Amino acid sequence: MRVNVTVNGEPRQADDVWEGESLLYALRERLGLPGSKNACEQGECGSCTVYLDGQPACSCLVAAGQAEGREVRTVEGLADGERLDPVQEAFVECGAVQCGFCTPGLLVTAHDLIARTADPSDAEIREALAGNLCRCTGYETILDAVRLAAARKERV
Ligand code: FES
Ligand code: FES
Repeated sequence: MRVNVTVNGEPRQADDVWEGESLLYALRERLGLPGSKNACEQGECGSCTVYLDGQPACSCLVAAGQAEGREVRTVEGLADGERLDPVQEAFVECGAVQCGFCTPGLLVTAHDLIARTADPSDAEIREALAGNLCRCTGYETILDAVRLAAARKERV
């Protein structure tokens, strides 16, 4: 089947989508957007997190057909052209990336938290990121990055 979906602000079509194919697969393999990662394909790790109609969702748990007519924003859509989103900049500056497999999902989740919560507490950050697993960093640098991005947002 063909799926029509708006991705990062552009109307896109994914062809030859099979029934039960995940949105994650369609994004990566049919639409040329490999930023969202497939680490568990079971909704456990958050590495595939994208915005779906403005809400973070595990794209491995969404059938591509369910995205018909909807809006998806992936990690590739966070930056403004060549300019990184402040959350991305903070992850770079804080060294919050090791292997990077968890990073796209964490960026989308952190981006959402900062957009809807002014000056989030550590508890709020931890709760927001609870569905995003990282095997490498020990989370401290990730927390630092989210704190930094949130603090910068407060100042603008
Ligand atoms: S790949 Fe989707 S939650 Fe792990
Ligand atoms: S940086 Fe490797 S899983 Fe998070």
